Amino acid sequence: MLKRILSFFIPVNIYKQHSTTSQKLEVTWNNGQLVLDSKNTNYSYGSLQRILRKGLHYIGFERIRGFENALVLGVAAGSVIKTLAEEIKFKGKITGVEIDPAAIEIANTYFGLDKITNCDIVIDDAFEFVLKTKEKYDLIIIDIFKDTEMPNFLFEDFWINRINFLLKVNGFILFNTMTLTNQHKERNLSYRSRFSEQYSVRMYPKVEDHNELFTIKKLK
Ligand SMILES: C[S@@+](CC[C@H](N)C(=O)[O-])C[C@H]1O[C@@H](n2cnc3c(N)ncnc32)[C@H](O)[C@@H]1O
Repeated sequence: MLKRILSFFIPVNIYKQHSTTSQKLEVTWNNGQLVLDSKNTNYSYGSLQRILRKGLHYIGFERIRGFENALVLGVAAGSVIKTLAEEIKFKGKITGVEIDPAAIEIANTYFGLDKITNCDIVIDDAFEFVLKTKEKYDLIIIDIFKDTEMPNFLFEDFWINRINFLLKVNGFILFNTMTLTNQHKERNLSYRSRFSEQYSVRMYPKVEDHNELFTIKKLK
């Protein structure tokens, strides 16, 4: 309690560990809220949770409640899964895929991710997982970062086509990106142009600081 109150004045770190994917994982009280940070950025809860919540608002909470299942690629401490389960009251099946077992251990210990009963966590590389899965999804959330870096495969045709194949008609992709340079902005414009008229693509620039969100609906 004391640490939480103190955190309104200065961030109070309560756990730190090395991570091969993210360099560092740090659990910190910040403005009265427990958050997970990597070496150079906020990873889960805090501003990241606000960003993805906005994206889910753009899709519509009511519409999401009607979906059967959701795939979350990049789980970290699981803040978007919490938003889905506790704020949106999404009762469908959630599958979360995370490459870093250390992040899931933190998610369970400090953020109660394992209390969410309609969620299965798979420790795997999202790239491998999307090749293997036999399911199709109503909602696919892509939130994959290695600290501030986004792996290149996220912008390659092979990945885009495979994700599109896994998306049900009338389903949505929510893709969180970071645009720190002009090159990143161009990368995002090129990403946007790669969807046919079968998809409705919306781009929400400057959601918070340097984040740019995409929502992509499969029309037919
Ligand atoms: C910004 S965090 C995700 C936050 C999360 N969506 C939430 O709602 O709190 C990015 C996560 O992507 C994970 N990641 C990086 N590369 C990955 C990959 N190839 N497959 C799966 N997860 C990956 C990182 O370990 C990190 O936990």
